[in-house]
Amino acid sequence: MTAWTIRTKLALWYTSIFGGMLILFGLLIYFAFSYANNERIDVGLKEEADGIAHYAQISMDSFKEYVGHISDERDEEWAAGKYVAILDRAGNLQFRSGNLTDAHLPLQGHQINEILSGKTYFKTAKNSMGRLLRIITIPMKDTQQLIQIGIVVNKDSTLNIFLLILTALGCFAIIGSWFGGRFMAKKALKPIGRMIKELQKIETEHLRKRLTLHPAKDEINELSEVINEMLSRLENSFNQTRQFTADASHELRTPIAIMKAGIEVTLSKERDIHGYQQVLASTLEDLRRLSKIIENLFILAKADAGRYELHTERMNLYPVIMEIAEQLKLIAEPKNIVVSMEKMEDAFIEGDALLIRMLLLNLIDNAVKYSHPKGIIRLSLCKDNGWAKIAILDNGIGVSQEDITHIFDRFYRANKARTADHTGGGLGLSICQWIVKSHRGTITVKSELCKGSIFTITLPTC
Ligand SMILES: Nc1ncnc2c1ncn2[C@@H]1O[C@H](COP(=O)(O)OP(=O)(O)OP(=O)(O)O)[C@@H](O)[C@H]1O
Ligand SMILES: [Mg+2]
Repeated sequence: MTAWTIRTKLALWYTSIFGGMLILFGLLIYFAFSYANNERIDVGLKEEADGIAHYAQISMDSFKEYVGHISDERDEEWAAGKYVAILDRAGNLQFRSGNLTDAHLPLQGHQINEILSGKTYFKTAKNSMGRLLRIITIPMKDTQQLIQIGIVVNKDSTLNIFLLILTALGCFAIIGSWFGGRFMAKKALKPIGRMIKELQKIETEHLRKRLTLHPAKDEINELSEVINEMLSRLENSFNQTRQFTADASHELRTPIAIMKAGIEVTLSKERDIHGYQQVLASTLEDLRRLSKIIENLFILAKADAGRYELHTERMNLYPVIMEIAEQLKLIAEPKNIVVSMEKMEDAFIEGDALLIRMLLLNLIDNAVKYSHPKGIIRLSLCKDNGWAKIAILDNGIGVSQEDITHIFDRFYRANKARTADHTGGGLGLSICQWIVKSHRGTITVKSELCKGSIFTITLPTC
């Protein structure tokens, strides 16, 4: 397909529409003009025919003299003179002007009766010399004869000149509209050209640049605004990815460096079996932490790419919470932490069972991890106006108001000094937030330093 520029296409459209209208308009004028001209000829013919009929009725001599005069007459308009014929009621020729020689003015039998009954008959026909004739036939009632007068009409130069002028003007107008259309399209598309140049300068590394906006509130400005918004979103997303990659590599590097250093120190001299066991145990602990971080990173990367397919089904939250609480009791009891069930009721949601378990595990794991020994964790589940409401409350270390706005950020760990012995990757709550969002729910937190925290999740019931 021909790759036409928008400018050419616009100019073509403009010229086609303008040209089409011009041709239509020209044709209308031409036909109106031509019709008026024919009317004028017919009126002249009728007057002439009435005059001839009058002479014919007075005397045949004066009629012949008059016919001889008008058939020779060669004025500008009636250039070839007038052809005159008289027919009887049967259509037989009784008289014809000298310039007709042996030719006939056409008339068909069935029209004779109509004419004799008083009707005037007009006809356009070609004569033997190929000239276009306009012919009138009228009756002479007294003698029951027909008078025919024909004039040459194909030499109407006025109409031809008019048509010529109209065609020439039309051509000029169409050529003019082509160039005019191209000029207007160029002017209209100029801001787009400028926009292309500006966009070409924006590279992935310089996403901070934006398109220039103009005070005129036109479509181009609107497009620039939309592109600028898109660039902002792209910039954010690029920055997030960059930050995520940097944080991830940092998080993975640290435990690996610790493991490497531990193993190197261990190998630097010979140790007893107990020494080796200690290093292996701490390396295993680091490896566990590393594998959890990698697992969480994998989930978030999939979520970011929109590649995590939710397998939702109707599920009751009650047994799920009970089961997870039982599991966590195993790690809570050694710390003398009590896991207590408060108000619990059945609540059905449309959810991905695997993700819902992950959500609850992360939150309850946090509650155990950030609780003091002999602390208490309270779990509750209730229904509220079409929502299932899960609350996880602990009386642990709590989060400061400064940190609370960041705890859902990736790799963010509040109170690092105080939680140094807790080995978290800082990804658990980010995953919780994504899970809740993908289930069209909400997650909120209230916390007070040294007093404890309460995490509340709401999910739509079904
Ligand atoms: N129940 C809680 N009590 C006090 N602080 C909490 C609580 N839950 C989360 N936090 C704080 O929020 C931070 C982020 O929590 P998140 O679960 O995302 O990461 P993590 O527990 O450190 O690591 P991960 O869950 O990836 O193993 C924690 O490091 C902690 O400082
Ligand atoms: Mg956690």
